[in-house]
Amino acid sequence: MSLHNLTRFARLELIGAPTPLEYLPRLSDHLGRDIFIKRDDVTPLAMGGNKLRKLEFLAAQALQEGADTLITAGAIQSNHVRQTAAVAAKLGLQCIALLENPIGTRAENYLTNGNRLLLDLFDARIEMCDALDNPDAQLQALATRVEAQGFRPYMIPVGGSNALGAMGYVESALEIAQQCEGAVALSSVVVASGSAGTHAGLAVGLEQLMPDVELIGVTVSRSVAAQQPKVVALQQAVARELEVTAHADITLWDEYYAPGYGVPNDEGMEAVKLLARLEGILLDPVYTGKAMAGLIDGISQKRFRDEGPILFVHTGGAPALFAYHPHV
Ligand SMILES: Cc1ncc(COP(=O)(O)O)c(C=O)c1O
Repeated sequence: MSLHNLTRFARLELIGAPTPLEYLPRLSDHLGRDIFIKRDDVTPLAMGGNKLRKLEFLAAQALQEGADTLITAGAIQSNHVRQTAAVAAKLGLQCIALLENPIGTRAENYLTNGNRLLLDLFDARIEMCDALDNPDAQLQALATRVEAQGFRPYMIPVGGSNALGAMGYVESALEIAQQCEGAVALSSVVVASGSAGTHAGLAVGLEQLMPDVELIGVTVSRSVAAQQPKVVALQQAVARELEVTAHADITLWDEYYAPGYGVPNDEGMEAVKLLARLEGILLDPVYTGKAMAGLIDGISQKRFRDEGPILFVHTGGAPALFAYHPHV
């Protein structure tokens, strides 16, 4: 098995070194199961997160194409948009972001604090829209306008989730395999599954490198029926680009995101508090809190394949804690 084609893709060094993979002793004690964590929340730019891995590949292509502007879209509190804006600033590019308010809130902190506050610091140009109901077309329309203004835009899809962006999570799988080799016999990996690039990249990488490991995506915005085709399509696109086969079933749990995307729930917030209290680690209300709620419930409901060690991929998002305070 080989992922050597990964090196064919141009890539910027935004991260520089593998993120830590750590044992969580107090959480493990509490849950009666060995729990490890992959600290992609501490990637080294702009308060970290999973999108920097995707942006290593996407921003490299933008530079190759001579772009002077990165355009992307997301929620007002999008971590993806925050990291894209930071990368643009670092590279001396303009960032234009198309934002929506997916939960229709007027809460001051949601509208101005957290990730949104950071967008202003990174000097992103913000355009609001009523809803990102057809984001690719909306981004294309924005790109056309920006081009007419004399700029050279590079379009990054919502969440940076196309096959190129997902390569960042093939890279993360490589790190996980190296960090576990001879040290941890992982049984399962748990990750939040949203725009699906993180999940799809991990699926392809882990199938090649750790084929016995069970990968579970906890959905943050969709039912299994709606999320499955998105993850599978990206998994297959990544595999095609890398010239490997991808036969692994995509496993999704959708019991933990209600009432909907971007709206915190009690189980997710309990998970946020638990990780803070036991390990000094900050999860977030929108993605990782809900994914951790899935991990915790999955143990108590015996949903995992067996009783071996579980790795939680921490994809970041803690800046949103300030946006959701005290509640939405
Ligand atoms: C903190 C955090 N975790 C997980 C995800 C989900 O990753 P993906 O969109 O690649 O499925 C996101 C996406 O925005 C995120 O910001």
